[in-house]
Amino acid sequence: MKTTPFLLLLSILFLSFSCSNSSEGDLIEQVDPVEIISYDTHIKSIFDTNCVACHSNPAINGAGVPLTTFSQVKSAIEATDLIDRINRQSGEGGFMPLGGSRMPQATINLIIQWQTEGFIESL
Ligand code: HEC
Repeated sequence: MKTTPFLLLLSILFLSFSCSNSSEGDLIEQVDPVEIISYDTHIKSIFDTNCVACHSNPAINGAGVPLTTFSQVKSAIEATDLIDRINRQSGEGGFMPLGGSRMPQATINLIIQWQTEGFIESL
């Protein structure tokens, strides 16, 4: 009778150890340095910095589409020539960000990679 609480404690300890081990493994997979691009981690801040001055919700200054949320940005990429426009040279017709300078190529590539990987919202 006396050993029962002790055994119980042991198995609880064992269980919690194996739990924490496996979730640690999951965590390491999530922050894998082979980057998976997600809207929350990489993409939102790019649009917040470069686009929402006009592409707010609702869009102002004649900018057609709002670009403030995951679904707005995703559907703008699917339904408009967004990628093409950010890829143009500044001064070229239709270039975005309008009146601004071309975003660094690495930033443009990040958005393209995000599209290629199927628009992951968050990790
Ligand atoms: C200074 C204001 C301004 C900023 C900043 C800006 N845009 Fe625009 N955007 C406009 C205006 C005005 C239009 C409508 C005229 C046109 O289509 O060129 C437009 C149109 C667009 C369109 C076409 C929408 C449609 O309905 O076909 C896309 C895509 C777009 N912008 C993407 C972007 C992206 C991406 C950024 C940030 C990198 C950005 N814009 C930054 C003003 C802006």
